[in-house]
Amino acid sequence: MSDLDLLVPRPVRDSQSEMAEIVLPNDANPLGALLGGRLMHWIDLAGAMAAHRHSRHYVVTASIDHLDFLVPVRVGDLVILRSSVNRVFHSSMEVGVKVWVENYIAGNCQHVSSAYLTYVAVDRDGHRLPVPAVVPESDEEQRRYDDAGRRREIRRVEHERRQKSMR
Ligand SMILES: CC(C)(COP(=O)(O)OP(=O)(O)OC[C@H]1O[C@@H](n2cnc3c(N)ncnc32)[C@H](O)[C@@H]1OP(=O)(O)O)[C@@H](O)C(=O)NCCC(=O)NCCS
Repeated sequence: MSDLDLLVPRPVRDSQSEMAEIVLPNDANPLGALLGGRLMHWIDLAGAMAAHRHSRHYVVTASIDHLDFLVPVRVGDLVILRSSVNRVFHSSMEVGVKVWVENYIAGNCQHVSSAYLTYVAVDRDGHRLPVPAVVPESDEEQRRYDDAGRRREIRRVEHERRQKSMR
């Protein structure tokens, strides 16, 4: 495959990924609730899957936006993570990850968390690589695409503010 083929725009659906984990005692605190750090690790993996599929390159995590844990997750629960690329900039891409907990005994499903992560495509030596554009096809994908542009601007402003406060 030539370098030009690698830059052909791809639909969001090509990056859509899903991951499932059963919460085991080793994933939980002494009260039997899933550790936040474990969930963050799974979110990073689910996000990276979408970024890999879209870019077809190695990727590194540049940042994770604010994260809320909306409902507790218990040992024995099934955690489902769904991810896709929201928008590509140059070498970076924003990926959205949505997390659900499924209680297969009670037969219900609840939204646990949503996260936005930025990944940067790199080669084996860690040099940044351009990423093909992503093509939103549905209204929902277009909304996420537009929102990702606004979030990038917020991140840029925040980054500058932090840089100034460190001087
Ligand atoms: C992320 C990383 C590759 C950025 O490299 P850099 O030389 O600082 O590059 P730049 O500042 O020129 O930014 C490169 C791209 O990353 C984006 N980026 C950099 N820092 C970012 C951040 N904190 N949040 C979101 N995007 C970021 C830039 O917007 C730019 O995107 P674009 O090419 O699409 O316009 C580099 O900081 C790195 O390797 N960090 C460690 C990554 C890692 O190891 N992650 C695992 C967790 S430890």
